[in-house]
Amino acid sequence: MIPLVDLAARHARHAAQIETRLLQVLRSGRYMGGPELARVEQRLAQCFGLAHGVGVASGTDALILALRAFGIGPGHRVAVPALSFFATTEAILFVGATPVFVDVRADRPLMDLSLIPSDVDAVITVPLFGMGGPEPELDLPVLCDAAQAIGWGWGTPKADACALSLYPTKTVGAAGDGGAALSADAGVIARVRALGSHGMSAPHVHESLGRNSRLDALQAPVLLAQLDTLCARIQRRQVIATRYEAALEHAIPRDSRDAVHHFVLRHPARDVFREHLRQGGVASAVYYPTPMNDQPLVDYLNQSCPVAKQWCRELVAIPCHEDLSEPQVDHIVSLLECA
Ligand SMILES: Cc1ncc(COP(=O)(O)O)c(C=O)c1O
Repeated sequence: MIPLVDLAARHARHAAQIETRLLQVLRSGRYMGGPELARVEQRLAQCFGLAHGVGVASGTDALILALRAFGIGPGHRVAVPALSFFATTEAILFVGATPVFVDVRADRPLMDLSLIPSDVDAVITVPLFGMGGPEPELDLPVLCDAAQAIGWGWGTPKADACALSLYPTKTVGAAGDGGAALSADAGVIARVRALGSHGMSAPHVHESLGRNSRLDALQAPVLLAQLDTLCARIQRRQVIATRYEAALEHAIPRDSRDAVHHFVLRHPARDVFREHLRQGGVASAVYYPTPMNDQPLVDYLNQSCPVAKQWCRELVAIPCHEDLSEPQVDHIVSLLECA
């Protein structure tokens, strides 16, 4: 079966660099913080044209801690697109705020900015699947859930901060969980850093209720090696995506600046299409089968997003990554041509 991602192949591609540096970190005894981790934070921020970054324990923590750094909490309402991985909503609930689900566009599965209510206290945007687009320009804190956006060519987000996931399957993925908060504002990042370190503003001075949320130094070699090859890997994904689009009836309009975190298409008979791929030895996945507003946990909010619901009926992701061989890409294209 051709998998959606092949993490062992990705490691093999970077093994020489990672394994040598990993041994150096292990032998150094410096497992928390340190210069290698500082380089990771700086390189991740640079990917989005931002000056400051801090590693945290996961993308979900990056969302939670950035919201808290903005001062968002109980009594606040946060606009969020109905279509994303549920962690985006979970972060809002975790800080005690209320999610306000905003339906997505009909042409691209991104928040319809014209539907953002005027009475919200903050907005989370989600460049889902690495797709970019116009951004809200509001006099409110805006957080970009950039979990799937690393490597995009859309330039620096206008948001006040970005939250990044370094989950292993992400285009730059840790060997385990990890995440980062990034911003042009050093103050936001200092607050996230303090919140992720027991709310300490100075050694043993606890000014706010924080937690333990840090990125381990052992992840640095894994991440730096993947950052070095990021541009070339994204370009390869774009070449493969262009071939798929030429073979497809149901391609979603792609922009050359999109990062192709996942290659997704819409198919009106998704189950039949997925079975056709499965019989041809190609894996597929549904991201996401349910809009976030329809999840049982937030059912009580009674919000409806019909466009997102339609996307959820038709979206399907197929393998599109740099570790596919040319014959594998040819094979997938041949299956798409007769789908
Ligand atoms: C859009 C989005 N937001 C948030 C997250 C949560 O990231 P993590 O799994 O690192 O906590 C993910 C991870 O899949 C994601 O895709």
